[in-house]
Amino acid sequence: MDYRISKPPLNKLVLGLITRDTIEEVKNRIDIVDVISDFITLKKSGANYKALSPFANEKTPSFFVVPAKGIFKDFSSGKGGDAFSFVMEHEKLSYAEAIRYLAKKYGVEIKEDKISDEGKAEQSEREGLYILMNFAKEYYKNILHTHDEGKGIGLSYFRERGFTDRTIEKFELGFALEGWEYFSKEAIAKGYNKELLEKTGLVVRKEDNPDGTIRTYDRFRGRVIFPVHNISGKVIAFGARMMGKEKNQPKYINSPETDIYHKSDVLYGLYQGKNAIRQQDVCYLVEGYTDVISMHQSDVENVVASSGTALTESQIKLIHRFTENVTVLFDGDSAGIKAALRGIDMILKGGLNVRVVLFPDGEDPDSYSRKVGTTEFQKFLKERTQDFVSFKTSLYAKEAAGDPIKKAESIKEIVTSIALIPDPVKRSVYIQETSNLLKMSEQVLLSELNKILIQERRKNEKEKLREQEDEPIGADPTVEVAPAKIDTQNMVYYQERETIRLLLNYADNQLESQRLSDFLVRELEDVEFVNPVFNEIYHTFKKGIEAGEPLDNQFFVRKGSEQVKRMVTDLVTPRYETSQHWGDKFHIYFSKEVDVLNELALTNVLRLKFRVVQKMMEDNLQLVKQAELADDLDLLDRSLETQTGLKKAETELAGLLGIVVAK
Ligand code: UTP
Ligand code: MN
Repeated sequence: MDYRISKPPLNKLVLGLITRDTIEEVKNRIDIVDVISDFITLKKSGANYKALSPFANEKTPSFFVVPAKGIFKDFSSGKGGDAFSFVMEHEKLSYAEAIRYLAKKYGVEIKEDKISDEGKAEQSEREGLYILMNFAKEYYKNILHTHDEGKGIGLSYFRERGFTDRTIEKFELGFALEGWEYFSKEAIAKGYNKELLEKTGLVVRKEDNPDGTIRTYDRFRGRVIFPVHNISGKVIAFGARMMGKEKNQPKYINSPETDIYHKSDVLYGLYQGKNAIRQQDVCYLVEGYTDVISMHQSDVENVVASSGTALTESQIKLIHRFTENVTVLFDGDSAGIKAALRGIDMILKGGLNVRVVLFPDGEDPDSYSRKVGTTEFQKFLKERTQDFVSFKTSLYAKEAAGDPIKKAESIKEIVTSIALIPDPVKRSVYIQETSNLLKMSEQVLLSELNKILIQERRKNEKEKLREQEDEPIGADPTVEVAPAKIDTQNMVYYQERETIRLLLNYADNQLESQRLSDFLVRELEDVEFVNPVFNEIYHTFKKGIEAGEPLDNQFFVRKGSEQVKRMVTDLVTPRYETSQHWGDKFHIYFSKEVDVLNELALTNVLRLKFRVVQKMMEDNLQLVKQAELADDLDLLDRSLETQTGLKKAETELAGLLGIVVAK
């Protein structure tokens, strides 16, 4: 063979056991904040740090790092431990892999004991895959830099595209020779077995020989190689671009899914760009490998590529770990801009702030950055960034001008996007803005928004119900499902729920003249709770109060039925963390609940009574109808009298609550 591999490759798939001393040394050098910061953005909070949980989908941070103790705790997922456990959990590494990773990070030399049999057995298959992928990466790099064909074809192709040596090294670009077995032969000569080669997807299996031996060929041939790194910098896949313009050949051939490569969980460029994303607090989203690379050359490093497809939920989560802001870069010529807009809806749904930049006709980030140069390009990005919702609105506004039907459609389209934003405050800011842009009353937009939100909620609830029904054995019959329709009966449900919530959270709080629990129990004497779970909690509470043994929510969490436990936990967990930040940003101020308990308790009682009275009227009306049908004058008389009494009570209550009721 006429080329050389410069570095001796890691040809042993089985590695020795790391010595105790090495582990101790690594432990001594570790700074847990520094370790975790490589993966997620930590915010200082007193002596500690907090962040959005990387292990759960959440909007409010519940992930804490306590540097003094060298530990982290994630209240969302329940995970916790030291820096080793974090790296293992987050990167899905074995203990040994985590030590190796941290040793490398802190420059500790790894000493190994002799390979034991157990040691061999312990080596995971994944480790083997990583090692082989690393070998392949080094191999393709070497070809690019040292082989005549690699230099003559591959390297000159990259040069033509304007890639510098530094870029080529940073992205570890390589070249695969034209030929069926160059790579396989080399790998096998270095001790890698055929099965592993196939598992990485680096070779493809043909039908087996008659004698049972396996026949394979290299997947990547005669192409330039773009390694795909995971978040900690390990190569997990390759994209291979063809050189010429041969027809009938895909432009890129990519690694297949393997045990270490799940396409939908990976973003190209994240490893090289994560620090910049964190620092700039925004992530640019582009389509392809070359867009990412060209932007790095223009000193814009906070960029990732979705590899030509719409973002997946887990990719969005991945970005969310580093920043809340995504700016999508659009090719100028996308005839299907509107189709592309759909994909963006996913990002809104993930709770991220979305902005867009539209490139001039026929340009993409790659071509445009090369055309105008670094300074102009950066200026362009800065000046052309616009908010996504406003962008979408102006796009539709232009079209809809003077066409009422189109206008109605546009409104629906835009409001549908707004409805996806999980934060109600942001939603209302957008409604205001859209109202200005479309010269359309806020009220109209709001009612459209509410329609969509209610539809959405119903759909979710139906799905929840369906999931429950579908669950065959082992289904949890105790899951409490809120009623799907909003009618009087459901209003009763929510009002009952609110009463119980107040009791659980504020039973001992002092109102003007009495404790909240005493007030509620006295006022609600004549009220039966419709929902059995609420009824159980309420009566237990009531008994406790009457016996002079006030109960706290711990009592229910310990002693209650499964259903009660679940409901109580749900109701005592604070839902909204209204932060100072919101006040500053949106000039919206929230009064703290405890400060307005008096009003809250009173209106709650009135509302509950009001809803109960309405429910009774509905039921009684049935009786009236029955009586009419049966010609039962006596019953008719009584039921009508009841109805009149109820109506009077309703009007009184409504007056107290300030609600206008139909006469
Ligand atoms: P592009 O065609 O824009 O590729 O597809 P590119 O990376 O920008 O390359 P150049 O500029 O034409 O050289 C965008 C992305 O879609 C995926 C790749 O991830 C690519 O980066 N793709 C495209 C494939 O996987 N296979 C293909 O055949 C084409
Ligand atoms: Mn391109």
